[in-house]
Amino acid sequence: MSASAPPPLHGPAFDADPHPAYRWLREHSPVHRMELPGGAWAWLVTRHEDARAVLADPDMLKDPARGNEVWRGARMGLPFDHRPSLVRSMVNVDGDDHTRLRKVAGGAFTPRRVRTLVESAERVTAGLLDRIAASSEADLVRDRPSPLPIAIICDILGVPPEDRAEFHRRAAVIDASAPEEIAAIGTTTDWFDDYLGRLVDARLAEPADDLLGDLVEAHRSGHLTRDEVTSTAFLLLVAGHETTVALLGNLFLSLLRAPEHLERLRRDRDLVGPAIEETLRLESPLQNATWRFPRTATTVGGVALEAGEPVLVSLLAAGRDPERYDDPDVFDPERGESHLGFGHGAHYCVGAQLARMEARVAVNAVLDRLPGLRLAAPEEDLRWWPSMIMHGLFALPVRFDTP
Ligand code: HEM
Repeated sequence: MSASAPPPLHGPAFDADPHPAYRWLREHSPVHRMELPGGAWAWLVTRHEDARAVLADPDMLKDPARGNEVWRGARMGLPFDHRPSLVRSMVNVDGDDHTRLRKVAGGAFTPRRVRTLVESAERVTAGLLDRIAASSEADLVRDRPSPLPIAIICDILGVPPEDRAEFHRRAAVIDASAPEEIAAIGTTTDWFDDYLGRLVDARLAEPADDLLGDLVEAHRSGHLTRDEVTSTAFLLLVAGHETTVALLGNLFLSLLRAPEHLERLRRDRDLVGPAIEETLRLESPLQNATWRFPRTATTVGGVALEAGEPVLVSLLAAGRDPERYDDPDVFDPERGESHLGFGHGAHYCVGAQLARMEARVAVNAVLDRLPGLRLAAPEEDLRWWPSMIMHGLFALPVRFDTP
């Protein structure tokens, strides 16, 4: 890649392997003015130190109303970004409102509550592996342990069993956000808007001991508006589903690329946790953190930014910054380094402990149940989501030995 021409930041080559482009940006344009569809543009931050500073900065606002006119005019957010019943959640607000919303939802993710979900995660995973293990091949992304994250979110929210298949099918459309599916997002969003509203009505009529029940209680006592209740439920679905699926796919791929690691993990399960952390650094499931807008004129990495100019922090690029990590492109489960894969600062991922638990359960089950695991397609044939947000595989075909 030449030193003068910025590399393309979209298209099949970038989706398949974005790392060379990010390397170029870290070296030549670490706070890069990136063109976006619809005439908009954004600052893309790729160095670890700058990324961490932006994420920690309370003057980098999350409220989309703080974005400048060009950004708002290009309607860069997804189609649901303009619905109060789906967007009044912690990820789109700042300051006291953020603290209030985060506190109510955070109760669902304490280590104690997460422990109570382990049993449910193990049961769902065992059922899936019963199905998978009966064959000698599978797709670890599509047949995946994938129903696992959505099943857990349904448990947390209290979605009744009879609605779960439909909930799952609709959630896949929202999360995919591949260009060809954008049209379907509108109608699917209508469905969630309506469905979550009905769940809230049910909790208002009859209180329940689940997160939605807690949120509805907070509404009854005046701490949350009704829009904030439905928006929080919707956020958990959007934030906690495909991210966890992508983490699992990216982790299995890292292990299949280096079978010696797979065997080491099979023998030494204490390495499963560190391998999950290493995947969050090396193949961060979220390519970029969510939009931020400076409250006032500021500088990032020596570059001047005006108030309201949109900023994206590349978690994927920051995770491979050689200024921060030795041999940054190497997967080393024993590295023991922190990372930005769950973000940093006030908006640090609420579901981090839950995602770690789900990944541990899924990886251990696959190691237990699928001996001789190997890729069933050349790595260059694997397809990645064409997305500015996600960094995850469409499919991960594998073979394994049957007893
Ligand atoms: C491997 C899986 C996951 C990854 C990689 C991930 C990553 C992240 C990141 C990077 C952020 C910060 C975004 C920013 O500052 O712009 C975030 C925020 C958030 N995540 Fe996760 N997440 C995962 C799983 C989950 C799960 C399972 C849930 C809940 C069910 C969840 C709920 C949230 C919420 C609610 C926020 C917003 C927090 C706030 O704004 O204060 N995440 N996540």
